[in-house]
Amino acid sequence: MTGPAKTPRQSEAVIADLMMPQHANGLRVPSVFGGVIMSMVDRCAALSAMRHAGGQATTLSIDKILFKEPIWVGELVEIRSRVVFVGSTSMAVLANVYAENIAQGSRRHANECWLTFVHLGLDGKPAPVPQLILETAEDRLLHEVAERRRAQSLAERR
Ligand SMILES: CC(C)(COP(=O)(O)OP(=O)(O)OC[C@H]1O[C@@H](n2cnc3c(N)ncnc32)[C@H](O)[C@@H]1OP(=O)(O)O)[C@@H](O)C(=O)NCCC(=O)NCCS
Repeated sequence: MTGPAKTPRQSEAVIADLMMPQHANGLRVPSVFGGVIMSMVDRCAALSAMRHAGGQATTLSIDKILFKEPIWVGELVEIRSRVVFVGSTSMAVLANVYAENIAQGSRRHANECWLTFVHLGLDGKPAPVPQLILETAEDRLLHEVAERRRAQSLAERR
């Protein structure tokens, strides 16, 4: 049975971690390895999908992640995500990545990523998700963007 409709705010999730030397890549001037950020993004977005679905969810796609600038060892990485669109069994999640240099008191938006999750029922098959209540102008805008992205992805489906 599908639960009651929820707002994007009800699926908000946050994870944060201090970047340590084991998170670095192999560059001459090391920055944080992109796979570390991708793993954090996937885990945070999964929490949002599970919060919205009220059950388990699996990653269908990680659509785009653009590393605009490096994140450095010693910075705090914070991921914030929420469900911005739902189909019947799938959910689009937008995750934003912030990097904070606590010593310098500076914080920046490092990148954003769109992901799609599918709610799985107890039998492991795709199952219906609650509807999404759009409360704000931003909710409606992100919903439109996600709807267009989904239509394009479905049109390209093999
Ligand atoms: C996710 C998975 C269960 C979906 O299986 P499936 O056979 O494609 O299921 P369906 O055809 O019923 O599609 C499920 C949903 O995904 C959507 N979908 C499938 N392919 C899509 C694509 N290329 N683009 C956008 N949405 C897509 C469908 O539209 C449907 O959503 P809707 O019900 O909201 O319309 C299956 O692909 C899977 O198990 N993948 C592996 C997941 C995984 O291992 N992830 C990494 C570890 S978490």
